[in-house]
Amino acid sequence: MLVRNVFESDFLGIVDKSKEWGDLVIEREAIYHVMCVHFRGTCFVAEDQGKMIGYLLGFRSQASPDQAYMHLMQVDPSYRGLGVGQRLFSQFQQAAIAMGCKKVTAVSRPQNKAGMAFYKSMGLKQEASGNLIEVEGVPATKDYNGPGKHMVLWSKEI
Ligand SMILES: CC(C)(COP(=O)(O)OP(=O)(O)OC[C@H]1O[C@@H](n2cnc3c(N)ncnc32)[C@H](O)[C@@H]1OP(=O)(O)O)[C@@H](O)C(=O)NCCC(=O)NCCS
Repeated sequence: MLVRNVFESDFLGIVDKSKEWGDLVIEREAIYHVMCVHFRGTCFVAEDQGKMIGYLLGFRSQASPDQAYMHLMQVDPSYRGLGVGQRLFSQFQQAAIAMGCKKVTAVSRPQNKAGMAFYKSMGLKQEASGNLIEVEGVPATKDYNGPGKHMVLWSKEI
C-alpha cells in the first residue's frame, strides 16, 4: 500500500469513489477539487497497486493555525479493517505536526458508530461544545452542521 499526497488530477477519482463506496460522506464535487488543489499538503490518497483504496481530506485551520481539521475520509469497503484508515490518519497527523499544529480535530455523525470507533482508536476524544443533544445514546452538538444535523466533535493533542 502507498499513501501519498493528492494531486489535482486525483479529484475526479475521489468523486467517483465517494459515490461508489456508498457511505453518507458525499460532498459537492467542487469541494473535492478545492481540497485537492488548495489543501494538498494535508490531503492523502491510499493506493493498492495503483488503485485508489482510500482518501483523507483535511486542512490547517486559518482561524486556529495550531489546529488541523480532518474534513472527510473514506476507505474502500473491501479494504476496511486492514489499517488503511490508520495509515491515512498517521500521514495526516505527521503533516499537521510538520506544520506546527498542536491539535487534530474532526466531527462525526452520532449515528456513525464505525467512524467514531475509528476516531477513538486513533486517540481522538469527544469534546462537549455548545448545546448538547443525545442521539442514539451519544451526546452531540445540536444543529452543528445545520438544523437537525447534530454532530459529535472530536480532538486530539498531537
Ligand atoms: C472509518 C473508516 C475510515 C476506517 O477505515 P479502516 O481502514 O477500516 O480503519 P483501520 O483498519 O485503519 O482501523 C483502525 C482501528 O479503528 C477501529 N475501527 C475501524 N473500523 C471499525 C469498526 N467498523 N468498528 C469498530 N472499530 C473500528 C479499530 O480499533 C481499528 O483497529 P483494529 O483493526 O486493530 O481493531 C472506514 O470504516 C470508512 O471509510 N467508513 C465510512 C466513512 C466514514 O465513516 N468516515 C469517517 C467519517 S466520521
